[in-house]
Formats: sequence, structure tokens, C-alpha cells
Amino acid sequence: MHDLNVAAFGRDNEADLVDKLRGVASTFSFVAVRSDRLVGHIFFSPVKIASECPPDLIILGLAPVAVLPNYQRQGIGSVLIRYSLQECTRCGVGAVVVLGSPTYYSRFGFVSAKAKGLSCEYAVPDEAFMVLELASNALVACSGIVKYRSEFGTV
Ligand SMILES: CC(C)(COP(=O)(O)OP(=O)(O)OC[C@H]1O[C@@H](n2cnc3c(N)ncnc32)[C@H](O)[C@@H]1OP(=O)(O)O)[C@@H](O)C(=O)NCCC(=O)NCCS
Repeated sequence: MHDLNVAAFGRDNEADLVDKLRGVASTFSFVAVRSDRLVGHIFFSPVKIASECPPDLIILGLAPVAVLPNYQRQGIGSVLIRYSLQECTRCGVGAVVVLGSPTYYSRFGFVSAKAKGLSCEYAVPDEAFMVLELASNALVACSGIVKYRSEFGTV
């Protein structure tokens, strides 16, 4: 898993982040395997909203998602994202946030987090911070700044 993330991102940061977060409560990790080879990986970790949020609402941050360079653009990333979001829904996760390309993540139903009253703790373009409600109206009583776990500060 570590090597896969290094190969996909061309650096150690994301792989090191996953190593640090593995074992933290409410993290989710899924892999894609092709012909016995690990070719894709997606990771989710809990985020908190600094302001308004029901205490029992579970919100996860999707990061990172990685597919080995030679296996990219074959639909593996999409399968990983769709499958893992279904599993998160099944496990009672209310919503997922992601920081990334709006063109890519809108395919999976992610919308502007700002439109839902949420902003990112990091200085990023508004359109790059997105959210997906897995339960209907999950975010209706939420607003404020989304805080990732402190380990993200080292990426
Ligand atoms: C992002 C990533 C996981 C997508 O996996 P994948 O298996 O290649 O994705 P799919 O085959 O399901 O989808 C490919 C489509 O996504 C688009 N896409 C892939 N990465 C993209 C990105 N960073 N920004 C915008 N679009 C992207 C491609 O243009 C392609 O579009 P097309 O179908 O119109 O040609 C993979 O490219 C990767 O590992 N990239 C390096 C790591 C990274 O940047 N991860 C995301 C940030 S956490």
C-alpha cells in the first residue's frame, strides 16, 4: 500500500500520511486488486466541523485515492470510489468531504461544500472543496469549518 501511494503521487507524503492514520478509529481503507496485484487504494478518515454539527453525525474525508500509473484511466479509480462510498453508506457515514478536481469528483455526486455551508480549514479554491451527503439531508444542521486530523498538516 505504501509503495502504491508513492508510485501514484510520485512522492512519499500521501503514503506517510496513510501510515500515520492507519489504526485510527473510524478510518476506512479499500484496495483494488488485479491479477493478484494491488493496483489501487482509497482511504477515509474522520473530520470534525468547528461550529454547528450534530454530535452523532459521522463525516469522513476522502484522501488519498491512488491507482498505479500503468493502471490509470481504466476505470479502477471510479470503481474504488463508487464501491467505497456504498460501503461508507452501509456503515452509517452521513457525509464525505474531498479536496480535489471538481470535474472528477462531480461524477460521483460531490457538490460544492460552500453551497452546503462548509469551508475547508486550508486555503484552497472554493470549487476544490466538495461534499457528498450519503444520508439525505445529513448536513442540514451543519455549518462551519471542516477540520481534518492533525496528521494532514504534515502533507
Ligand atoms: C486520480 C486517480 C486515482 C484516478 O484513477 P483512475 O483509475 O485513473 O480513474 P478512472 O479511470 O476511473 O477515471 C479516469 C478519468 O478521471 C480523470 N482524472 C484522473 N485524475 C484526475 C485529476 N487529478 N483531475 C481531473 N481529472 C482526473 C481522467 O481525466 C479520466 O477522465 P476520462 O475518463 O474523461 O478520460 C489516479 O489518476 C491517480 O492515482 N492519480 C495520482 C494520485 C492522485 O492525484 N490522486 C487524487 C488526489 S487524492
